[in-house]
Amino acid sequence: MVAWKNLDTLDSYRELAGTKGSVDLARVMSGESGAERVRKYALPMAAGLTYSYAAKCVDDGILEKLAALAKEAQLSEKFEELYNGAVINLTENRRVLHQLTRGQLGGQVMADGVDKRAFYKGEQEKIAAFAKKVHAGEITNENGEKFNTVVQIGIGGSDLGPRAIYLALENWAAANHTLKMQARFISNVDPDDPVGVLHGVDLAHALFIVVSKSGTTLETLTNESFVKDALQKAGLDVSKHMLAVTSETSPMAKNSGYLAAFFMDDYIGGRFSTSSAVGNAVLALAFGPEVFARFLEGMAEEDRLSACTDPLKNPAMLDALISVYERNVLGYPVTALLPYSQALSRFPAHLQQASMESNGKSVNRFGEAVDYCTGEVLFGEPGTNGQHSFYQLLHQGTDVIPLQFIGFRKSQNEEDVEVEGSTSQAKLCANVAAQMVAFACGKEDENPAKRFAGQRPSSIIIGEQLTPEACGALLAHYENKFMFQGFLWNVNSFDQEGVQLGKVLAKRVLAHDTDGALKEYASLFGI
Ligand code: F6P
Repeated sequence: MVAWKNLDTLDSYRELAGTKGSVDLARVMSGESGAERVRKYALPMAAGLTYSYAAKCVDDGILEKLAALAKEAQLSEKFEELYNGAVINLTENRRVLHQLTRGQLGGQVMADGVDKRAFYKGEQEKIAAFAKKVHAGEITNENGEKFNTVVQIGIGGSDLGPRAIYLALENWAAANHTLKMQARFISNVDPDDPVGVLHGVDLAHALFIVVSKSGTTLETLTNESFVKDALQKAGLDVSKHMLAVTSETSPMAKNSGYLAAFFMDDYIGGRFSTSSAVGNAVLALAFGPEVFARFLEGMAEEDRLSACTDPLKNPAMLDALISVYERNVLGYPVTALLPYSQALSRFPAHLQQASMESNGKSVNRFGEAVDYCTGEVLFGEPGTNGQHSFYQLLHQGTDVIPLQFIGFRKSQNEEDVEVEGSTSQAKLCANVAAQMVAFACGKEDENPAKRFAGQRPSSIIIGEQLTPEACGALLAHYENKFMFQGFLWNVNSFDQEGVQLGKVLAKRVLAHDTDGALKEYASLFGI
């Protein structure tokens, strides 16, 4: 029987809280003990990745306490309930089924009279068949010509994940001769967004996918109209260019004006929807369905690891436990995500939503205020670019910000150059290794301005190359980490009521139903 309890009511958490500041990173990461930690504190992940946590403020004693916390908080049992189809999302009275899009961890999940795994697989097959026809020139524009570009129109979860993964694999696909179509994305209701994208697209040969789970998102519906208008003005047949991805119950599902429609459902939260039709349609059109299947395989393999009941052998669970230790015991509110991979340039933006929309809550699952900190602030940029931007604060600022590095031994392309005795890829890798030691160990100096305090924890996920499988494993790792964090904080990670108030007030501004400060602010914009 699973018991949902607040973090601060757990004995193991109270015990953990008594260990504050017990690991001196500068000491343990120096010399041979540092080398030994790097060898010891590493866990295999899916797709040949490794989660290395040697530079975190943990030792065997703290790890033991974290494992006890995982057991008392029943993290594995809660995950098991989730993947077996329990109504985990209490406020919206919904199951949470995104893992079912990439595998079946538990028993058959029946909902609304259907086997949900079969439903998701059915949509994947429909999308694969459609994408193959587009690539083969069997589905064409009004002049019988092949499409060369796919443009996704969506926002939040209907944009960030698919966009991040497209960018992550675009160069890999080009290098592996499987880039079938260019993909572009329109998300912002700022008209400069669609205008900018449409100017760079050959409209006559573009397919547009309108993606909205709810089918009611103002930005997306506005941008759909923007694009339809552009197609009409160009004398093109709108019905030959527009696809839909939505849930079967949304208003968009009733619109017969689309060339094709693919479905997800209410059991998949927007920010967890990359592995559903939301990411599938654009990624299968861009790279081919086989590449999307490989991406899903990486996710499924990582999900299986996340179901491991030993917390010290479960990378997502351990990552979540260490992060809660950092947030709640060491008192660090921010985490930086630093991929040393240009292809992962939008991955931090996607994880911002996945983490902060999931765990930015002040009440527990039952609506009671919690007395401890929850969701971390997440931000990030690829290295080495970030080094020349905000690392000054990370190294010498007054706040300690835990760091999550990601790195690969090989680039996605063969091309490289040797300058001053090393390749670009070697320089990239050397930098990430250097940063981890610099952050942990710091440096003494007579001049205080040149002193590095060290004691700034980091972890790294490291792999051979950013392939579709590695990309899937990375995404599933973080999705599962945020889920485990939510279990520990006892919040509902699957609703997002905090986004509603602003939407309601914006509607009032547009309806000229304002007073006080709202009226004044609106008038500053001439509305
Ligand atoms: O406003 C927040 C949100 O509901 C996100 O949770 C979601 O990812 C995004 O809007 C887009 O929603 P939809 O896919 O329904 O258009």
